[in-house]
Amino acid sequence: MTKRSVSRRLVTCFASPRLSFNVLCLVVTIFVLVQIWSFHITNNSLLPSLFTYLNQQNETAYLVEKLRESVTFLPLKDLRYANKPLVGHTWFMSSLYDNQTKGEVQYQEFPSDSSKGKLLCLKGVDDHDGSWNYYALAWPQALPVNATLLEGLTFVSYNHYDYGNMWHGLSAMVPFIAWSLRNKCEKPQRWVLYHWGELRFKMGNWLSKIITASYDQNTEFLRFVDEDKPVCFEKAVVMRHNEGGMSRERRMEVFDLIRCKARRYCNISLSETSEPRIGMTLLMRTGARSFKNESAVINVFNRECKSVEGCEMKVSYSDNLTFCEQVELMRMTDVLVSPHGAQLTNLVLMDRNSSVMEFLPKGWVKLAGVGQLVYQWGANWSGMKHEGTWHDPVGEICQFPDTDRRCMSVYKNGKIGYNETYFGEWARSVLGKIRVREMKDVVERNHGHGTLDGCQC
Ligand SMILES: *[C@@H]1O[C@H](CO)[C@@H](O)[C@H](O)[C@H]1NC(C)=O
Ligand SMILES: *[C@@H]1O[C@H](CO)[C@@H](O)[C@H](O)[C@H]1NC(C)=O
Ligand SMILES: *[C@@H]1O[C@H](CO)[C@@H](O)[C@H](O)[C@H]1NC(C)=O
Ligand SMILES: *[C@@H]1O[C@H](CO)[C@@H](O)[C@H](O)[C@H]1NC(C)=O
Ligand SMILES: *[C@@H]1O[C@H](CO)[C@@H](O)[C@H](O)[C@H]1NC(C)=O
Ligand SMILES: *[C@@H]1O[C@H](CO)[C@@H](O)[C@H](O)[C@H]1NC(C)=O
Ligand SMILES: *[C@@H]1O[C@H](CO)[C@@H](O)[C@H](O)[C@H]1NC(C)=O
Ligand SMILES: *[C@@H]1O[C@H](CO)[C@@H](O)[C@H](O)[C@H]1NC(C)=O
Ligand SMILES: *[C@@H]1O[C@H](CO)[C@@H](O)[C@H](O)[C@H]1NC(C)=O
Repeated sequence: MTKRSVSRRLVTCFASPRLSFNVLCLVVTIFVLVQIWSFHITNNSLLPSLFTYLNQQNETAYLVEKLRESVTFLPLKDLRYANKPLVGHTWFMSSLYDNQTKGEVQYQEFPSDSSKGKLLCLKGVDDHDGSWNYYALAWPQALPVNATLLEGLTFVSYNHYDYGNMWHGLSAMVPFIAWSLRNKCEKPQRWVLYHWGELRFKMGNWLSKIITASYDQNTEFLRFVDEDKPVCFEKAVVMRHNEGGMSRERRMEVFDLIRCKARRYCNISLSETSEPRIGMTLLMRTGARSFKNESAVINVFNRECKSVEGCEMKVSYSDNLTFCEQVELMRMTDVLVSPHGAQLTNLVLMDRNSSVMEFLPKGWVKLAGVGQLVYQWGANWSGMKHEGTWHDPVGEICQFPDTDRRCMSVYKNGKIGYNETYFGEWARSVLGKIRVREMKDVVERNHGHGTLDGCQC
């Protein structure tokens, strides 16, 4: 507003037909004149500064409005990277880079230095195609039009696989717990779950309990109500690489915490036993990858266990155990004997240094890819000892050569046989090692670990 435009306004003001209005104009004019006069006398810059102030106010408001309008939403799933969805910045929020410190979890935080103070905003309700859901960054003073601001900390998870599967789900959760461990055990107010950019609203029961236990609170999954109304977060942490980048020490810290919190959640305290005890657990499956002749397998391991002093064997089906029964069972287990499958994820709940014996049906070695190694990794990352895998040489007959991918559909759901000689020798050797170890550290274990208030968070 220039001075000239003000005088023009005053002129139009006097031209008004209403008397009261004219009087008002007069008063304003006198006031303005007095101000100008006092300005000349005292060199007080009230009026010009008033003009400048109003001008700036208007200019700021104007710019903020433009900023709000310029917030640009991009598709969460960037199809340009469909051929390498997990590499580098990935196809999820592909314009943004992670904060990478060697050995630490790779993550993004908003607002942060790297976001220049901008918040994360999300939009879209699609649970089938992630390219119809959107993200944007916006300054808190200039949130996009119609946006809702959610207070507190929000965890935004990208999982390439599945939140229902115990192992894949847990892999997606590990980095968040690692982040919390590094950030004063900060808890999320809510979670936003994505799979390929598509929204998900629940996790499997086991995983959900693990998260509830780890954060001592019920888990809330955000549901967007309106596809046109963005939601912005006061503070958001985004993970899209699972535990990738984390050192073994960091991973072990996370599993130590999960184990500790799960036991606390289930009210499990350590019973006072001083005599060395070795728990051997056969964790059975039904259907795909179950043992063809369970009683034969049970017999072999039972025989070997009986021949070791203090060894006790249990046979359980993970399907009919509650979460806390699984936690309790794993606390008593030093040797976990189980076919390849999600139930093996329970291994992270055993005490550190416990042993895992894994079994696979015919055909997997050649065809199942690196995925068949996940429990070897899982054991290593959580401080357990993977004692090897038995690959059944006998099984379904595939009409194509052994290395033909088409055979995987034949082998995938195969069942597992047994080799009495091999299982017997294997069990003896594992139990032998355990016994030596137990004698050394069982006393410390019984008194040091597993107390209810030893958790890091
Ligand atoms: C603010 O300035 C813009 C142009 O700079 C103008 O169009 C607008 O009318 C002004 N608004 C007010 C409330 O003075
Ligand atoms: C990255 O994370 C570290 C802590 O792990 C933090 O000190 C640093 O400021 C972060 N960098 C950015 C750009 O956010
Ligand atoms: C904001 O919401 C109103 C009412 O729901 C709607 O009419 C308008 O188009 C929205 N604006 C934008 C930019 O989405
Ligand atoms: C653990 O104990 C507390 C207090 O006695 C109880 O409220 C809670 O329900 C118990 N938790 C489980 C999983 O049993
Ligand atoms: C299972 O194995 C035992 C030997 O340990 C054998 O006696 C039994 O017949 C087998 N059962 C079946 C169904 O093959
Ligand atoms: C557990 O499940 C198995 C197979 O589904 C069944 O045979 C067994 O009886 C169940 N055990 C209990 C204690 O429910
Ligand atoms: C695990 O075993 C290693 C040696 O193999 C030992 O140094 C370590 O103290 C053990 N940890 C626990 C928690 O028993
Ligand atoms: C885990 O793997 C690393 C690297 O392969 C190895 O050095 C370490 O000994 C392994 N730890 C256990 C407990 O198997
Ligand atoms: C069973 O295991 C033993 C010991 O490893 C091996 O010598 C034997 O060939 C195996 N039997 C079969 C049928 O694979």
